[in-house]
Amino acid sequence: MSLFNVYPLFDITPVKAKDVYVYDANGTKYLDLYGGHAVISIGHSHPTYVQNLQTQIENIGFYSNSIQNPLQEELAQKITALSNCKYYELFLCNSGAEANENAIKLASFHTQKKKIVAFKNGFHGRTSAAVAATDNPKIIAPVNAQQEVVFIEYGDVDTLTTTLAQGDVCAVITEIIQGVGGLEEATTEFYQTVSALCQKFGVLFIADEVQSGFGRTGDFFAFQKHDIEPDIISMAKGMGNGFPIGGILIHPKIKASYGLLGTTFGGNHLACVASLSVLEVLQKEQLLKNAQIISQYFTDTIAKIPQVKQVKGRGLMLGLEFDFPIAELRKELIYKHHIFTGSSKNPNLLRILPSLTVQKQHIDVFINALVKVVEGITSNSKVI
Ligand SMILES: Cc1ncc(COP(=O)(O)O)c(C=O)c1O
Repeated sequence: MSLFNVYPLFDITPVKAKDVYVYDANGTKYLDLYGGHAVISIGHSHPTYVQNLQTQIENIGFYSNSIQNPLQEELAQKITALSNCKYYELFLCNSGAEANENAIKLASFHTQKKKIVAFKNGFHGRTSAAVAATDNPKIIAPVNAQQEVVFIEYGDVDTLTTTLAQGDVCAVITEIIQGVGGLEEATTEFYQTVSALCQKFGVLFIADEVQSGFGRTGDFFAFQKHDIEPDIISMAKGMGNGFPIGGILIHPKIKASYGLLGTTFGGNHLACVASLSVLEVLQKEQLLKNAQIISQYFTDTIAKIPQVKQVKGRGLMLGLEFDFPIAELRKELIYKHHIFTGSSKNPNLLRILPSLTVQKQHIDVFINALVKVVEGITSNSKVI
């Protein structure tokens, strides 16, 4: 049987990984500034993470949500302590799309309405309502297209106001910094206006922190910079450092009842321990502070490369914009310099999403390689 061929793959086979490095089957060492798409938050195979997961699986790895699991309570307390999101309640699931799916479903239950407002260039996952709220018609199947979604530009307060005033919207969903869309972020004024309009019209505000959450931007959640209080916050990626786990934080005005949401695997013992280990390491190693320091160093150093037209994003969720497509540049970084980076919907934007443990010396290695590759590409294009 062959694999259903949906992923264009680089010809590299990682077999081992440690902190910011990944090793292939030939022993070649790669600097990982991509983190498997913003997933690796505390470094590959962090000793605390490995030890805690090993101990847990020797005791109990899984049981369904029909028994007491104190690890879920512990995780809720620890997220509260680190994020300072005090009054929320936690529901656990397995992925980013599932987190958004549950967030939208909950908003619809709560308001008894069904229209969703989302933003142009946004990405929220590949399942039912989450994909319908994603601004990419290529990945929306007819069965998903039956959802009612209105896409609005960041900053377009007039359209947002008239849409919400119609009274049939259950949720406004937005990333605070767009990941796949290319690191766009609206202004504080705009996010605060969205929040106020949601309150005025009885609509729930969902902050999709699947990529930006768990410290990636240097704040625990990216929305915290804008001084807003979303009704639902969705999380995944960095939450488990590679172990599949997602979740939503739910404002207490939304009431729980038995059977309203549910999952077989979500919140299992191993997933909880993975996420507890992430939080333990984020705290012990002060990785949010490290994200801020390295981000500043990165931005200061990259400013010396004239071909980089703009640095977008915050913390260690960054994008470098060039005035040419980065596909070739990215390939050279991987195959010649052994550095993983990411791409986005914007063909000129190179994405940098390293583990929050990354250090200045790793940034120096990247910058040296980038200078060489960019010089090669731009001088070749001059010759042509
Ligand atoms: C902002 C955002 N939301 C949701 C998702 C979907 O997450 P998952 O792939 O875990 O379903 C992603 C994935 O890239 C994302 O970046």
